[in-house]
Amino acid sequence: MFCGRRVAATFVTVHRWRLLKGPSSFVRVDHGRTLTMDATTADHYSRNRSFQQSVGVKVLQQYLRWEGGDTVLDAGCGTGEICTYISQQPGVASVLGFDVSAEFVSFASQYNSAPNVRYDVADVSDISTYKPEWEGAFSKAVCLYVLHWVRDKAAALRAIHSCLTSRGEILLLCDTEESSFNQTSLIMASHPKWQPYLGEFVPIVFPWPSGDLGKNRSRLMQECGFEVLSCHIEQNHQHFESKAKLKEWLRAVFPHLNYIPQDRQEEFFHDLLEVARDTRLASTDALYIEVTATLVLHARKL
Ligand SMILES: C[S@@+](CC[C@H](N)C(=O)[O-])C[C@H]1O[C@@H](n2cnc3c(N)ncnc32)[C@H](O)[C@@H]1O
Repeated sequence: MFCGRRVAATFVTVHRWRLLKGPSSFVRVDHGRTLTMDATTADHYSRNRSFQQSVGVKVLQQYLRWEGGDTVLDAGCGTGEICTYISQQPGVASVLGFDVSAEFVSFASQYNSAPNVRYDVADVSDISTYKPEWEGAFSKAVCLYVLHWVRDKAAALRAIHSCLTSRGEILLLCDTEESSFNQTSLIMASHPKWQPYLGEFVPIVFPWPSGDLGKNRSRLMQECGFEVLSCHIEQNHQHFESKAKLKEWLRAVFPHLNYIPQDRQEEFFHDLLEVARDTRLASTDALYIEVTATLVLHARKL
């Protein structure tokens, strides 16, 4: 067992050096897949997202007040469970969920459909993939656990802004640089044993820059035309009934696994769990996860 803090510092330094090499270094082997959170299939993600569901529902209940006729945009809707939840809230007229993954959108359309829910494929940071009719069409937007997969957050926020009605609201959840998930992801990407498999892959996790945030303030949100109503950092945790369940949650959110040969994945998992314990993402008995330093931000279109 190594000293986590020291090892973490070493790997993060290696990672920063790679960052300095510039954007071209980020071109990753994408195996013909979309350049996004492609750690898992839609079915597997849907079965292993109870953590995202419970935190998502908790913040929706805390921050949003549904009003009659609400039209809601779910940017990065994944497999659609949150769209279903929102569509059932009193007053909500309709929900549009979109995601960059055609596979996830197809799953959402099949298993989370409702008369007042529609799905589409689009890249949140590329407004040219948005439908013209989305402009100014939504009174509320949610973007839960998506923006840390997105490099150009300003482009994403401006694009969502353009979809909102005047004084429309946005609620987002995003991991920050300090989060235990982000730290674990960085360390595994630079791990000497696994780095050769990862090649030019670097973590496709782009946490929210902590320097951007102040007390109920985000410069980025202001620059993108939003008034911040509330902004804070929180931690969330979940118990799993078995170590196997926790492993499946990790499998669903760590894209690194795509690059590890099948016959070495157990060994990778062993190291991943060790690092996750070090960063306190996972408990020693691997039955509990704690994702620290998640940004919860509620804002209104100016
Ligand atoms: C952790 S999942 C969260 C999904 C959903 N919001 C939930 O709470 O379950 C992250 C989602 O972001 C999507 N995503 C990543 N990059 C994206 C992009 N550039 N545009 C749209 N969706 C994106 C992924 O395909 C994935 O479905």
